[in-house]
Amino acid sequence: MPSPESPRSVQPEEVTAVEVPPAVLELARSARRVCVLTGAGMSAESGIPTFRDVQVGLWERFDPMELASPEAWRHDPAQVWAWYSWRASLVRAAQPNAGHEALAAWQQRAGVDLQVATQNVDDLHERGGAEVLAHIHGSLFALRCDTCDRPSHTAYRDLAEPVAEVDPPACEREGCEGQVRPGVVWFGEALPQEEFFAAVEAAQEADLVLVVGTSGLVHPAATIPHLAGARGVPVVEINPRETEVSEAADHVWRATAAQALPALLAQLG
Ligand code: OAD
Repeated sequence: MPSPESPRSVQPEEVTAVEVPPAVLELARSARRVCVLTGAGMSAESGIPTFRDVQVGLWERFDPMELASPEAWRHDPAQVWAWYSWRASLVRAAQPNAGHEALAAWQQRAGVDLQVATQNVDDLHERGGAEVLAHIHGSLFALRCDTCDRPSHTAYRDLAEPVAEVDPPACEREGCEGQVRPGVVWFGEALPQEEFFAAVEAAQEADLVLVVGTSGLVHPAATIPHLAGARGVPVVEINPRETEVSEAADHVWRATAAQALPALLAQLG
């Protein structure tokens, strides 16, 4: 279980100051190429709990890290499918927040090339109007067979509340005995290479990298800001709490995603 110091969702009322740090504003104003790396904190204000949040209710006893693994799937697919069905139901019911919308609006501005690379498996960036360069941990809704790997057109069961077990659908391919699994990257699995390298390249070639709402604990995604920093690209962290990224960042801005990003966009001029 997460320790009491674990990162958790932070709602806007907990952080009062939304003043844009002048150095961050300066960097954002002059950047032609911006790369934004996002994590679970990006969607926290849409009501999606972060991974290292203390989970509530039925899932309180489970560590999400332990459910996100091929071993967990082999051991108890119905439990893992129930967990992802619940998360998918939460995501479907959620709305993009002001942070997602600010990034989409920033992407629309003339003269700026803004790329979004996300660790999030939700679709809130897209529903907020942004184009996403890379989902480096996959997509919740890109279902596929665990055996023949074919994309599946089945769907999660919509859950009004969490349940302990839901049997995953069978693969639709004739003769295949596989089960349908979430299209996310589990611990121990390889990242989608094309997406990962697209994210690395976007960060290394940017004039500014913004790292929003990630604990920086999961590699190799967490190496991206370091790879950009090593090339001299300024790195700004937006997160209400200190993280593994903080020390290497050129600037840290202690604010939530839905506070900071609209404030930044509003002041770009
Ligand atoms: P975490 O749950 O590890 O961290 C969430 C981060 O968001 C923490 O640093 C919080 O301080 C921050 N945060 C909380 N509320 C926020 C808010 N309103 N605005 C901005 N930041 C906020 O999530 P990730 O870093 O995304 O991987 O986790 C990385 C990966 O671990 C996930 O992609 C997932 C998980 O296991 C896979 O599923 C493979």
